[in-house]
Amino acid sequence: MAIRPPTPTRPTAFEFFAGGGLAGIGLTAGGRGFQMNFANDLSPMKARAFRDNHPDVPLHEGDVWDLAVADLPGTPDLCWASSPCQDVSLAGARGGLEARRSGAFWGFWRLMQGLDAERRGPRIVVVENVVGLLTSGRGRDFATVCGAMVEAGYTVGALEVDAAAWLPQSRPRLFIIGMRGVTGAEGPRPVAPFHSRRLMAAHAVLPDRVRAAWAWWRLAEPPRRNVDLTGVLEPDAAVNWFDAAQTERLLALTAPLHRARLDAAAASGERRVAAAFRRVRVEAGVKVQRLEVRLDGLAGCLRTPSGGSSRQYVLVCEAGRVRARRMTGREAARLMGVPDDFRLPGSESGALTLMGDAVATPVVRALTEQLFLPALAGA
Ligand SMILES: C[S@@+](CC[C@H](N)C(=O)[O-])C[C@H]1O[C@@H](n2cnc3c(N)ncnc32)[C@H](O)[C@@H]1O
Repeated sequence: MAIRPPTPTRPTAFEFFAGGGLAGIGLTAGGRGFQMNFANDLSPMKARAFRDNHPDVPLHEGDVWDLAVADLPGTPDLCWASSPCQDVSLAGARGGLEARRSGAFWGFWRLMQGLDAERRGPRIVVVENVVGLLTSGRGRDFATVCGAMVEAGYTVGALEVDAAAWLPQSRPRLFIIGMRGVTGAEGPRPVAPFHSRRLMAAHAVLPDRVRAAWAWWRLAEPPRRNVDLTGVLEPDAAVNWFDAAQTERLLALTAPLHRARLDAAAASGERRVAAAFRRVRVEAGVKVQRLEVRLDGLAGCLRTPSGGSSRQYVLVCEAGRVRARRMTGREAARLMGVPDDFRLPGSESGALTLMGDAVATPVVRALTEQLFLPALAGA
């Protein structure tokens, strides 16, 4: 009788602040990566989207502070936390890690300490956040997160990765990675682009005990991206375009230089596609609405400002005119590397919020394939 090889067991991961579970999509790496065994998110809308897309992953819907260690199953190999970033975001007012929302990091970390106390702590921890974490609280917040990991016995390092290397969206994010009892690929010194200048500056002022446990984790740049913004857009006939008056009202919000570029593109005869973001800015002490336009084939970082009129738009310059419309939730999902069979919330604003808060899946997958899985396999 043939002897069946043992079923290879996959490493396991938990996903905190899971949103629609995009970190999990990257960690799963198309079935060759982690098995997701637990997730948590506070938002009912996000939780619904999570369940719709990951029905087999146990989800706790509620505040991370309401979780007890006993709610967490087994011994995870990796725990991922995309903790809320509003308070450390460069885009928002800064209150630092102690502020209410970003303070959720401590709700997560308390669980890591609880797992450790039961000898169930993960060998890899990842904290994903906006790049503003490097400088918020004059660098104190970054030092605090890294210090917490070092105190728990992890070797710590960070990477600043812009999703634009994989996707037509500029989305720089910070990934702080701790490894314990396993060895990740690292080098003797920082290497561009993922060890950015601002990361090196933040590392330079870390306390000695953190620098002593520091690793410059290695991540290779992907092959040159061959998809630009045009590649993620819906066919023209499938979307609702603004009429001439609506378009003009929107374009009136562009700065003169952007408007001139748009008009030049429209006059060129070639079809050019631009992503645009409407936001409120303070200019000379006065709040004004502005439409920020990119004509470089990339969307600016998708965002989900709470309230207000901020929105993403698509502009098409063609045959001497500019047409405009809102970006769709499906287009936003593609800009995050999410496959088209992902079930988006029914409302467009729900879909845009879900995606604007999320992590770009190919970045997580690259970290998984190059750093996490090899480290665990070599353990
Ligand atoms: C930056 S988003 C992360 C999204 C996720 N990585 C994704 O790819 O969709 C932060 C998430 O944390 C959730 N959140 C905020 N405060 C929380 C808390 N106290 N407990 C649990 N979840 C919380 C929000 O609902 C939001 O979905």
